[in-house]
Amino acid sequence: MHSDEIQALLKVKATPRVHEDEQETRFNGKPQSKRCSTWLLVCDCILLGYFCFYWNGLPSLRLGATFNSSIEGSDPLRFNYTCVPSQACWPTTNQWADFNRTINGHLKLTVPWAAPCYAGSDGCQQVTTNYMNSSARTSQYGAMEFLDWESCGLSSCMLNSFSPSAPVDGTCSLGRLSTYHVEAHTANDVQKTLNFVRAHDIRLSIKNSGHDYFGRSNAANSLAIWTRNMKNARYHKTFQATGCQSTLENVGEIGAGISAQEAWEFFEPLGMLVTVGATGSVGVAGGYGQGGGHGPLGPMYGLMVDNAIEFDVITADGRARTINACSPAEDAELFWAMRGGGGGTFAVMISYKFQLHPAVPLNVYSFQASFPVPEGQLDITESVVHRDVIRALASNQALFASHGMAGYNFVLPDHMVSLQILPSTNTELIKNITSSYNKFLSRYPGLNITENAYYTFHKFSEWYAFAQTPSIARNGPVGVGISESGRFLPKRLFSRPQAVEKLVDAVVTAMQISFTNGGGGAAQLYATGPFSQPVNSGTGVNPAFRDALWEVIMGGIWTSNTPESVRRQIRNTISTSIGPFKALTPGGGCYMNEGDWTEENWQQTFFGSNYDRLLEVKRLFDPSGLFNCWKCIGWSGYDE
Ligand SMILES: Cc1cc2nc3c(=O)[nH]c(=O)nc-3n(C[C@H](O)[C@H](O)[C@H](O)COP(=O)(O)OP(=O)(O)OC[C@H]3O[C@@H](n4cnc5c(N)ncnc54)[C@H](O)[C@@H]3O)c2cc1C
Ligand SMILES: *[C@@H]1O[C@H](CO)[C@@H](O)[C@H](O)[C@H]1NC(C)=O
Ligand SMILES: *[C@@H]1O[C@H](CO)[C@@H](O)[C@H](O)[C@H]1NC(C)=O
Ligand SMILES: *[C@@H]1O[C@H](CO)[C@@H](O)[C@H](O)[C@H]1NC(C)=O
Ligand SMILES: *[C@@H]1O[C@H](CO)[C@@H](O)[C@H](O)[C@H]1NC(C)=O
Ligand SMILES: *[C@@H]1O[C@H](CO)[C@@H](O)[C@H](O)[C@H]1NC(C)=O
Ligand SMILES: *[C@@H]1O[C@H](CO)[C@@H](O)[C@H](O)[C@H]1NC(C)=O
Repeated sequence: MHSDEIQALLKVKATPRVHEDEQETRFNGKPQSKRCSTWLLVCDCILLGYFCFYWNGLPSLRLGATFNSSIEGSDPLRFNYTCVPSQACWPTTNQWADFNRTINGHLKLTVPWAAPCYAGSDGCQQVTTNYMNSSARTSQYGAMEFLDWESCGLSSCMLNSFSPSAPVDGTCSLGRLSTYHVEAHTANDVQKTLNFVRAHDIRLSIKNSGHDYFGRSNAANSLAIWTRNMKNARYHKTFQATGCQSTLENVGEIGAGISAQEAWEFFEPLGMLVTVGATGSVGVAGGYGQGGGHGPLGPMYGLMVDNAIEFDVITADGRARTINACSPAEDAELFWAMRGGGGGTFAVMISYKFQLHPAVPLNVYSFQASFPVPEGQLDITESVVHRDVIRALASNQALFASHGMAGYNFVLPDHMVSLQILPSTNTELIKNITSSYNKFLSRYPGLNITENAYYTFHKFSEWYAFAQTPSIARNGPVGVGISESGRFLPKRLFSRPQAVEKLVDAVVTAMQISFTNGGGGAAQLYATGPFSQPVNSGTGVNPAFRDALWEVIMGGIWTSNTPESVRRQIRNTISTSIGPFKALTPGGGCYMNEGDWTEENWQQTFFGSNYDRLLEVKRLFDPSGLFNCWKCIGWSGYDE
């Protein structure tokens, strides 16, 4: 095709995407973002059948439209790594090809996952069958877990989540996906990529599983490193960390791309437990293992970052480093920062070494019940049954925590799911600890109980299979659009009856806000934090995590069928519904991986008192801002 035609086509396809969406929905009048892309033609890649234009292959192509990058009323801000296609700094075709050779041909052109459905080709079936399957999504660069981060204004390649076989119209385009990605297999691939983006001033993004709720695993106009194929795994019966005196036992070592499920499938036959989260497809060493990492073993053995022993990383300067607590001062600081200060911020993780735990059974108390829905309008704040069950749980939470018992609790307008998990060789102990909670629930007259049982799972994989039961698996659908907000609820709120009453008020108020404003009305109460590890000095994680008995999450979803105005309403609702919890916890915080990406007070909320020290580490190891992600330490701001 002639370059004039291409230009004309791109203009037509891309023009409607000018900031309307971004400006209004993301920031409600705040300075607009360029996350999606100001140079909107550039993040796009129009697929005609399987044809994809190589932007850089057309160095003479002049973009028909460029958009003003300045924030209203101020001078244009210029950040580092802003080179985009069509600019002189952008590599030529030959430079891309040379680069590709230095990384063993691992440079790939991105094809959106659902492209075959737009092209009407055979591959579509595999996409529609797995549209809401999180592992299927993680195995593609061309798919994110959430549709928000596959879209860029009107540019996207999405299907209707709950009816993916429905016919599509329009054009499949890249949205926020990066045109090129490096399918990294080795540390060398990563080093060469960092050197390349530095030399050409190109924005970098790092994607592992693509689960991030803030869209931090991709960025428009970036060159992406995709770590998912770094799949090595190793068990060390004994291990001595570089420069350390002591010898440790039962240490695991995994490549950056190993998922939670792959981790336990490798270590379970060795009789070892890994401190993974609730979902098998989430990565271990990426955002999870650098931002915190809570799960069913969290209360007993700590967060993933608490179990970290040593990392092999590549820093922004392209240097490979092995870092741990015994490293010389600056590297030890980097290790501290990467234990909780967030993924995509300080360095690229290559290999993660961590403490394993000799396997014990997971003992579970599983309770599910539906509530009689009253005649007329449901007001959850006035619902005695909601208040009573939330109070019962909250009143028992300190006891549960003192035993290292984890909990996943979901309270909805019409039913509840409450799972308590105790890792212990004493398989009867959980009955003792939960006896009063169980008695209360079992005898409560207003509950239609559908499950009230104890289980012992001798293997982690058995627990996981159980937790995947549809009525229980409430840890979030994927393949949809999502809004989330969250908050840590500290111990003091669980200590006395008056305090508990305020907590109960906050939960039912938040649910009601969500329920009446399009958010669905569910509250997720996670008791999966690091109760056994109250001292935070070794990790850069938000100190508020240590003190929390619950992490509450509010969430709402949308699909391609949801009108933009409704999506906006859901987003506002979810942001607003966390308000009652914020009011209870002034100066408190939220888990950086499970919060609200529109959070204004993000430094304090996600990093707490560790913020300044983390920023110093950032300045030391990444002074030019090569690693730049949304509301991460050193984030370049709304002009991103
Ligand atoms: C369905 C679902 C369930 C979840 N369950 C839990 C849970 O039980 N417990 C919990 O703690 N969290 C949970 N999370 C949140 C999860 O921890 C975050 O989404 C986390 O960011 C995922 O990390 P990832 O590497 O798999 O994802 P990605 O989205 O690929 O990456 C997340 C961030 O890490 C960066 N990153 C990835 N790999 C590297 C690397 N090698 N080096 C440097 N930076 C890297 C990315 O750039 C990005 O900023 C869940 C999320 C979802 C969607
Ligand atoms: C961009 O904005 C600046 C500052 O508001 C203004 O001076 C400039 O003319 C604008 N450029 C274009 C191309 O609109
Ligand atoms: C990189 O090289 C490999 C192997 O030669 C090739 O298959 C691949 O298409 C190249 N990537 C790009 C983007 O051209
Ligand atoms: C989800 O996708 C994975 C990976 O493609 C596949 O192995 C698995 O069977 C799928 N799960 C379901 C329920 O279809
Ligand atoms: C639970 O165990 C404690 C301590 O072992 C014991 O005192 C208590 O009676 C037990 N409670 C029940 C309900 O079995
Ligand atoms: C109890 O719940 C079950 C499962 O949701 C439902 O089938 C049944 O009709 C309910 N019974 C009553 C009395 O509400
Ligand atoms: C750009 O990089 C330089 C160092 O190379 C640094 O001093 C400056 O702060 C960076 N700018 C931004 C916006 O990060």
